[in-house]
Amino acid sequence: MHLIAPSLLSANFLNLEADCRMLNDSEADWFHLDVMDGSFVPNISFGPMIVEFFRKATTKTCDVHLMIENPGLYAEAFKKAGADILTVHIEACPHLHRNIQQIKKLDMQAGVAVNPHTPVEALKDILADIDLVCLMSVNPGFGGQSFIPHTLNKIKRLREMIDEQSLKVKIEIDGGVTLENAASIVSAGADVLVAGNTVFKSADPTETIRLLKQF
Ligand code: DX5
Ligand code: ZN
Repeated sequence: MHLIAPSLLSANFLNLEADCRMLNDSEADWFHLDVMDGSFVPNISFGPMIVEFFRKATTKTCDVHLMIENPGLYAEAFKKAGADILTVHIEACPHLHRNIQQIKKLDMQAGVAVNPHTPVEALKDILADIDLVCLMSVNPGFGGQSFIPHTLNKIKRLREMIDEQSLKVKIEIDGGVTLENAASIVSAGADVLVAGNTVFKSADPTETIRLLKQF
């Protein structure tokens, strides 16, 4: 059964408590928390301080997606803030293996995110060391963008790579997931669907989460 990870980037920041409560009472599996530094991506969101508030608001898995340069400088701060999964971008990490070892040493699950132009084959020699691949299905930086269809090929290729090595790495799809495309994403081999706008801009977010879970 695939997991649903609503992205709090699309939540109502004037009423986060209500949105956290809604997610806690829903079938959502993870809280997806998007950290942006205004350098790796052309937008700024929030840092460890806000992650800590989310941590206090939920017992669900806090899945922290770092869209930042030099993530190694901040891994410890995100551990202290309560991150369960820490995902770094392959494009921001010339010493990716070192970053992954650091995250695991801090006793968090380690994820690697790849931008739309990065081939999944670039993950070949790190796959056995990680828990999660976050395949970006939009260019990172903003919620509410359209799903890039080519991602479906990447999911299938990555699924094969994971299965060939008999690994348990999860495939997470991030960006432009809707009620219309969720079924094709899951059948291509995805394990986790991130959904921002589809959940938070819908009339009934709880029901939307339930529907996303159904496919
Ligand atoms: C994009 C973020 C995503 C985003 C998803 O840079 O990493 O997590 O918030 O939002 P939607 O589902 O609206 O595309
Ligand atoms: Zn994300």
